[in-house]
Amino acid sequence: MVVGMAMWRRLCALLALSIATPAQAALEVDLQSPASIRAAAKLIAKNLMSYYHGEEPGNTPGILPGPPPGGPYYWWEGGAMWGTMIDYWHYTHDETWNKNTQFALLFQSNEPQNNYMPSNWTMSLGNDDQGFWGMSVMLAAETIFPDPPPNRPQWLMLAQAVFNTQAHRWDDQHCGGGLRWQIPFANTGYNYKNSIANAILFNMGARLARYTGNDTYAQIAEKVWDWMEGVGYIDKDYNIYDGGHVEANCTDIDRAQFSYTAGIFIQGLAFMHNYTNGKEPWESRLTALSKRTLEFFFPEGIAVEMACELDSHVQCTTDMLSFKGYVARFIAQAVHVAPNLHDVIMPVLRSSAAGMIQSCNPDGTCGFRWNRGAYDGLTGAGQQMNALGTLMALLIDEPKVIPPVTNATGGTSVGDPAGGGDPSIERVMKPITTADRAGAGILTAVGLIGITGTLAIMSTSFGEGGFSFFKSK
Ligand SMILES: *[C@@H]1O[C@H](CO)[C@@H](O)[C@H](O)[C@H]1NC(C)=O
Ligand SMILES: *[C@@H]1O[C@H](CO)[C@@H](O)[C@H](O)[C@H]1NC(C)=O
Ligand SMILES: *[C@@H]1O[C@H](CO)[C@@H](O)[C@H](O)[C@H]1NC(C)=O
Ligand SMILES: *[C@@H]1O[C@H](CO)[C@@H](O)[C@H](O)[C@H]1NC(C)=O
Ligand SMILES: *[C@@H]1O[C@H](CO)[C@@H](O)[C@H](O)[C@H]1NC(C)=O
Repeated sequence: MVVGMAMWRRLCALLALSIATPAQAALEVDLQSPASIRAAAKLIAKNLMSYYHGEEPGNTPGILPGPPPGGPYYWWEGGAMWGTMIDYWHYTHDETWNKNTQFALLFQSNEPQNNYMPSNWTMSLGNDDQGFWGMSVMLAAETIFPDPPPNRPQWLMLAQAVFNTQAHRWDDQHCGGGLRWQIPFANTGYNYKNSIANAILFNMGARLARYTGNDTYAQIAEKVWDWMEGVGYIDKDYNIYDGGHVEANCTDIDRAQFSYTAGIFIQGLAFMHNYTNGKEPWESRLTALSKRTLEFFFPEGIAVEMACELDSHVQCTTDMLSFKGYVARFIAQAVHVAPNLHDVIMPVLRSSAAGMIQSCNPDGTCGFRWNRGAYDGLTGAGQQMNALGTLMALLIDEPKVIPPVTNATGGTSVGDPAGGGDPSIERVMKPITTADRAGAGILTAVGLIGITGTLAIMSTSFGEGGFSFFKSK
């Protein structure tokens, strides 16, 4: 019965896509018309921004309501949203949200270190969390998003500071290299080396290399890729698995696959491809990972978050409900710097958008499942980012939507190659006590579930890495 129902729904979805006027009242948009896409994107963007209350009295600028239990969203998702809004401006030229975006990105930047490690958010500060803010300011530099006033940190500086602090945390002591998930040793997940953290380091390295022309960034990106393959997080078929623990030398691989990790690697590979002017092995890697990602995460041409969006039910965390949007945005930007991917990626983004529209109400509220032909009632800031990210990507061929610039081709952002301040937040954390050790044992027994993003669990847990940090210092 359940299976029968699911199949029936899917048929309806396909039917709805094939006819001009769907049965349900859905958001109206003509995917052949850039003007119509822009109008619908404006509605969806406004709906997305209705989740943001950071500039209201008593609230914190830059963040979405949270972190839990204060609201559903972790700190990083604010950073991801501002990146989405930069793309929104870039694709549509609508400046409505630019002021909020610039204000937010600067407010959370942790001046004067400029490294997106503000002490408020230490408890959920993963390399991936910091990295999402980093990727958003990198995008600001690449799209010539309005530069901050000269007495404030500049986009490129901020991106370099994030990159520098992360590159400094590269840890050869365990698993032959790699970044850990969490930054403070006291966070659960400090003993986990995962693909998302390393994906972002790779991505930022590739983009900084192309933007600045400084090959050091590309060499670090290459080191990350080699490590990811060596440790088996990327397999020969270009599946990218979630991660493993330092106690097991990263061999206890959690095989869950998340779409945003693949999207972040594709974008990074496209920049390496462009930076090296099409040289191998980047070209083949880019082709292979793109193919695998479209096949795995876009069954029937529609984005599905495979690890948690199951046929029978959705078991995605708030974090995971936002991943589809990053994939769409990042693989679209990949097309700009690797034009030979255009006819591979754009048809899939188009069919995915067609499914997505069926999930939206006429007011621009969108659901999570895009292969059901109707609104599923699962709404949130992540779902709005997914919808917006996918829809606006279809504007990529519009004449005024320019490919990412570099310092040599119109970029105006000023950098600081040495930025970042003290990368080791660990040094300011309190020393380990006997009570902490007892607590750690209990938490280790509870175990860390191998899901990415920022887990709520705050604790005094630390793995072997916590000890070796103190030994080595
Ligand atoms: C940190 O938290 C304090 C207290 O809530 C708040 O006033 C401040 O704006 C926050 N800073 C950042 C960067 O979030
Ligand atoms: C740990 O893993 C790394 C990377 O896969 C490998 O080079 C190293 O030999 C492993 N060490 C041990 C003790 O197995
Ligand atoms: C290139 O980047 C590296 C790594 O961040 C930095 O140490 C070096 O100073 C940069 N070189 C120049 C010329 O900017
Ligand atoms: C690099 O990107 C530019 C757009 O900025 C594009 O015109 C060029 O074809 C790309 N190079 C390669 C090798 O794909
Ligand atoms: C970036 O471009 C500016 C102006 O064209 C130039 O002065 C500066 O040296 C360049 N920076 C780098 C890192 O190449």
